[in-house]
Amino acid sequence: MKKLNVLVMGELPTEGLLARLKEHATVEIVERESALSPDDMVRHLAGKHAIVSEPLDGISPSIMDQCPDLKHVSNRAVGFDNINLSEATARGILVTNTPGVLDNATADLAFALLLACARRICESDRYIRNGQWVGFQSDLMLGPDIYGKTCGIIGMGRIGKAFAKRAQAFGMKIIYSRVSERSAVDDELEESFGATRVSLDELCAQSDFISVHCPLSAATRKLIGEAELNLMKPSAILINTARGAIIDEDALVKHLSARKIWGAGLDVFADEPNVPKELFEMEHVVLTPHIGSACIDTRFRMAELAVEAVISSFSGTRPTHVVNPEAWDAFQKSILVREIKESMQQEATARNE
Ligand code: GLV
Repeated sequence: MKKLNVLVMGELPTEGLLARLKEHATVEIVERESALSPDDMVRHLAGKHAIVSEPLDGISPSIMDQCPDLKHVSNRAVGFDNINLSEATARGILVTNTPGVLDNATADLAFALLLACARRICESDRYIRNGQWVGFQSDLMLGPDIYGKTCGIIGMGRIGKAFAKRAQAFGMKIIYSRVSERSAVDDELEESFGATRVSLDELCAQSDFISVHCPLSAATRKLIGEAELNLMKPSAILINTARGAIIDEDALVKHLSARKIWGAGLDVFADEPNVPKELFEMEHVVLTPHIGSACIDTRFRMAELAVEAVISSFSGTRPTHVVNPEAWDAFQKSILVREIKESMQQEATARNE
């Protein structure tokens, strides 16, 4: 009997979900506030067949090599740039993620950052708390209007669309850029949101507000660099709830310091949890600590999807959100996976007897 052995990074949101996983697996939970060192990760992963990981947990080829029993990385996030996908696929390691359930929460945060920057909410809050307010003034905390302005969305996947809905409700004109070939999706976007597809350069030049919603990949690393920032209006506000490395952070800090753009709302950073210190001094920048999907129900659904993906894969059913479907065959054929599946079947039979 080969019992499924799972490493869960960070607590699960409910006892019920943990109990559900424990019906099928031996579980070790690692509670940690910062990323484990690769050596510690290898130590905890020894003998584990699956890991329920988070964006904090880097899964490198070296870790994969040192943990030959690891067969499934179930990332409790939609982004999976913390995992070396091609190397996982080459080793027959299945990678799954949790898309769909966090679209509204993430779009909400992006829009909250947009509003906070434009309406100077955090700055106003500090102003009152510091005892600076002396009375109503018609030019106090002036910011740009939102209604009628142009909102540029980079990446029109599920979260980009959820953001577009919010922008539309606030009376904004929507333009967007995306990498895929033109397709029926673009017609739908035009129909649903009156949105116009433009090039990235056009988007940078025309937008009053820009929100980043594409995944981080080799193609999108530093997608917004010096050149793109130079195209933006001095009144532009840039929002990033996707991944920090999509923006050239040094260039952004330079532009914000020189007030070449109005401001930025940033939930993600290139080297988390390190945030460029220069940003701390900038009143026109709003910072949040990677909390895009941090809503109670959303985080529960993400954890549930991640747990169910592990139970499903080792029971022989392909999980719904496999990021590397090419790995499914090799995963299923692995002797270890077959042994675990058999013992899960025997346990299920025994439970039903
Ligand atoms: C969080 O950052 C996610 O990718 O879900």
